[in-house]
Amino acid sequence: MLPERKQVLIVDDEPNLRKILSAQLSRDGYDVMTANDGEEGLAALKDHHIDLVITDLKMPKVDGMTLLKKALEEDPELPIVLITAHGTIDTAVEALKSGAFDFVTKPFDKDEVRQIVAKALKTRDLRAADATPARDARDARFGIIGHSQGILDIYAILERVADTPTTVLISGESGTGKELVARALHEHSSRKDKPFIKVNCAAIPKELIESELFGHERGAFTGAVSSKPGRFELANGGTLFLDEIGEIPIEMQVKLLRALQESEFERVGGIKTIRVDVRLVAATNRDLKRLIASGSFREDLFYRLNVVPIRLPALRERTGDIPVLVEHFLGKFNERLKKKVEGAETEAMEVLVAYPWPGNIRELENVIERAVLFCDAQKLRASDLPPEIRGIPAMANVPLPEADLTAALAGEGGLKEHVKVAMSRLEKELVSRALQQTGGNVTHAARLLKISRKGLQLKMKELGLREGSSDGTPSQRPPPPPATDRHE
Ligand SMILES: Nc1ncnc2c1ncn2[C@@H]1O[C@H](COP(=O)(O)OP(=O)(O)OP(=O)(O)O)[C@@H](O)[C@H]1O
Ligand SMILES: [Mg+2]
Repeated sequence: MLPERKQVLIVDDEPNLRKILSAQLSRDGYDVMTANDGEEGLAALKDHHIDLVITDLKMPKVDGMTLLKKALEEDPELPIVLITAHGTIDTAVEALKSGAFDFVTKPFDKDEVRQIVAKALKTRDLRAADATPARDARDARFGIIGHSQGILDIYAILERVADTPTTVLISGESGTGKELVARALHEHSSRKDKPFIKVNCAAIPKELIESELFGHERGAFTGAVSSKPGRFELANGGTLFLDEIGEIPIEMQVKLLRALQESEFERVGGIKTIRVDVRLVAATNRDLKRLIASGSFREDLFYRLNVVPIRLPALRERTGDIPVLVEHFLGKFNERLKKKVEGAETEAMEVLVAYPWPGNIRELENVIERAVLFCDAQKLRASDLPPEIRGIPAMANVPLPEADLTAALAGEGGLKEHVKVAMSRLEKELVSRALQQTGGNVTHAARLLKISRKGLQLKMKELGLREGSSDGTPSQRPPPPPATDRHE
């Protein structure tokens, strides 16, 4: 059987890129045409039936933006994928607004392009067949927004495992969408009409966790005035979501392991063995391997939970998703707050894309909510965003005290020395603030500064700053000194 081959047009003035891409896409079964610049590209569009265009942005004669606009005038449904150089995110965002299907940033991953091409063509087919109401392929699947490789991988895992009884362990920083994924697993399984029961292991006092999970019989302990089923029983037939599993006390871990392995347990103070059919999903923002190493998490339990691991990428690892997430949250809060903010200005979007988002999607969601509330223009402006988000460009305008500059020239040192002294002062200030803001948590501070934890430790040593606190995991280090401003 000969499937209908799709015609892809690659427009780029770089011969190498054309070669690599066309070789790959030919291998994937597309007919590929190439053009050396926008002018040739437009000519090819006129003379041939093209299903998809991949174009560079910066090219001689006619550039990618112009090509995009002219091509869409002719065929508004034509999927166009842009290739942009690093640091031209503003143009990329503008291109998306002008109707580009997607963009990739150089240097890109071949697989990323392949995925986007496949998705774009599928969307075009669906639209042509009118199989679904014309919807944007960037829309959420499983309620999860994003089209970065990291999110596409998660869609793929979800599709494969949602409707199985397999245990899933979701890991990821705070606010990356762990609970969203846990619910998606439930909603896309045949258990969806049965209960989804969530237990936040960090929120339950240690002495109550066993009865919370497994229930208790009357009189099992002081206060147990009647018998009560636990969460395992409540979740029977459905899904049990154990959130913050890393916080579960070590003594409880054996009991949990047994319940998982044998699907049976007893209530506290009970003798009857209870059997349940529960699909377990666990989540953590801790590094369980490290907890195992430090003796606070059982390795056997880890392996029992980690049958299918899903790691949610931090938002700063998939900045390409920020524009679509922003659009999504604008829609959500426009509706909720009865506002009509139509989008974000380029400068605002640049700020949003540049910020490292230590609190991930939850933080982005909160920032957009607040910005929508305060926005009284048609579009979100950078000034609607909180100053801490706009912090990065602000550093470009550090005031330079006149007196110091004059003194520097009059004094002994040369350019190099002065710059070095000033830089280390700035570094020290930023590092100390990051530590202060995170209550001395080196891991979080490193994240805030976008450097590795190791890098931060070295920097602190170099700057003569003392490592005065733990890094979030229990350790043998002495407790921190009574530092100021601790938020923990
Ligand atoms: N990909 C996504 N698309 C749309 N909304 C998302 C996405 N990921 C997360 N969210 C939203 O962000 C918020 C935080 O997500 P969620 O509560 O699932 O994160 P979490 O990883 O469980 O965080 P924590 O570790 O703090 O409990 C929620 O409002 C969720 O709906
Ligand atoms: Mg959560």
